[in-house]
Amino acid sequence: MFPKSPATRPVPRHIAIIMDGNGRWARGKGLERLNGHERGAEAVRDCVKGCRELGVEYLTLYAFSTENWQRPKAEVAGLMKLLERFIGKEIPELDAQGVRLQAIGKLEDLPASTRKALEAAIAATAHNDKLTLVLALSYSSRVEIVEAVREIAREAREGKLDPEAIDAALLSSRLYTCAYPDPDLLIRTSGEMRLSNFLLWQLSYTEFYITSTLWPDFRKGDLLEAVDAYSKRQRRFGGI
Ligand code: FPP
Repeated sequence: MFPKSPATRPVPRHIAIIMDGNGRWARGKGLERLNGHERGAEAVRDCVKGCRELGVEYLTLYAFSTENWQRPKAEVAGLMKLLERFIGKEIPELDAQGVRLQAIGKLEDLPASTRKALEAAIAATAHNDKLTLVLALSYSSRVEIVEAVREIAREAREGKLDPEAIDAALLSSRLYTCAYPDPDLLIRTSGEMRLSNFLLWQLSYTEFYITSTLWPDFRKGDLLEAVDAYSKRQRRFGGI
């Protein structure tokens, strides 16, 4: 399969980030894990600004995985409240910057108030076209793929689809991300070398950039470093 958006310029069109290390950042400072997440929200704000300045068109952030529901109740509740506050508070700023907010994942799993805030922000910023900020919430790439396969199988059973016509483009069109190009650059903070069930299909040809910086310390300058490293890569998409 050809990637949907071969980058022909040094600035990635789509950046995806696994924001990791909030807990370790907090522990290192003798603080509560939630303090790390709060500081992480500041990093989000800074990165959105950085992406706008660079001309990045899509920024997808792994904010909460389906596995994260297993964390202690107080941490999950605190994170949901933080998301709710952040989303509500940031609408005017996102709007002023021309940012369109979107979300992927099992959004029906979110607490009603978080979901309400999210839906309001998505509606309020729907007209913007400078940067699409996609929050992955209650997200699992395997679940996303399984749901897509289930839908395709259903259509085939009902005779709406010839199984021979199933190809990579068709599967892509059934994923939550069907409206976005595949990421050009994946950044993971805190030095971990894992995908952690994030965009497994979409990252097939993506360039990876791992930094030991913990997410709460990640700022525009770190983003520029990652983009600079990306701009020096040779992308061949399986060719030579
Ligand atoms: C991973 O660090 C981070 C998360 C599970 C949550 C990410 C959430 C934020 C950055 C909060 C703000 C987000 C938005 C979109 C406003 P970890 O807790 O797993 O860190 P550790 O591996 O050091 O324990």
